[in-house]
Amino acid sequence: MSSPSPALATRLEAARAVVHDAAQMAMAMRPPPGGPQASQKSAQDWLTETDGAVEAFIANRMKALFPDDGFQGEEGGVARTGSLRWVVDPIDGTSNYARGRCRWCISLGLLDGDEPVAGVIDAPALGEVYTALRGYGAFLNGKRIQASPVKDPASSMIEMGWSNRVPKPVFMEKMDAIMAMGTMPRSGGCGALALADVASGRLDGYIEIVINLWDVAAALPLLAEAGARVSPFLQEGGLTGPATIMAANPHIAQALSKAVSIPLA
Ligand code: IPD
Ligand code: CA
Repeated sequence: MSSPSPALATRLEAARAVVHDAAQMAMAMRPPPGGPQASQKSAQDWLTETDGAVEAFIANRMKALFPDDGFQGEEGGVARTGSLRWVVDPIDGTSNYARGRCRWCISLGLLDGDEPVAGVIDAPALGEVYTALRGYGAFLNGKRIQASPVKDPASSMIEMGWSNRVPKPVFMEKMDAIMAMGTMPRSGGCGALALADVASGRLDGYIEIVINLWDVAAALPLLAEAGARVSPFLQEGGLTGPATIMAANPHIAQALSKAVSIPLA
């Protein structure tokens, strides 16, 4: 197998180190178990001090390392443009983080134009780090991962992400379709980790009707490298605004796509 381009390999290594340091910062600032220690951007959309601090930390470190690369964050918007573009979600799963729960992560993806090329997802409260480089595999704590072999919907587990952006009847209609297939439903409050779970085979599928680039940018190369099938999120507006995503293991993807009326790429 050929070696990855030095430019991309260097960036993945740097991203892993910077995200690791940011994860330690987030752990140090983490609220204890209890009611949410956060403010609300809107109903059930939470913001902690850590979101801003982690994003600023990562933005500054990446700017110092790769001043010509573009940078976009959930909290700060597009700070710099460039054909290589970093996209960060400083805390994905803020609603979990704010209550002292464990299911949250820092997600840093790298796009080359409109191609997702690398990603790091660090979930320090779970002790898990996912990495991927396009063409060179997807890994969980250094071990190669792949999408699950489950074929029978009656043995499958599918997660559906919830946010206040989706009208209740639309959410219920898709959830009903998933359950009618006989799957076991889940909803865990961290889109990036749910997509990583599809890549590692812990879930057979993930659907979110309205989700943003920063939630999925690091997971897209993981999913591609792990052999999962994904709906055309970037091609359907995800590069510039919210869009729908569905990711699933390759055996169940077609049936799921048909059941929820979300076409695959
Ligand atoms: C949210 C989480 C949630 C997903 C939402 C996201 P945040 O991100 O990933 O699981 O369903 O669409 O907005 O607010 O925790 O960064
Ligand atoms: Ca997020």
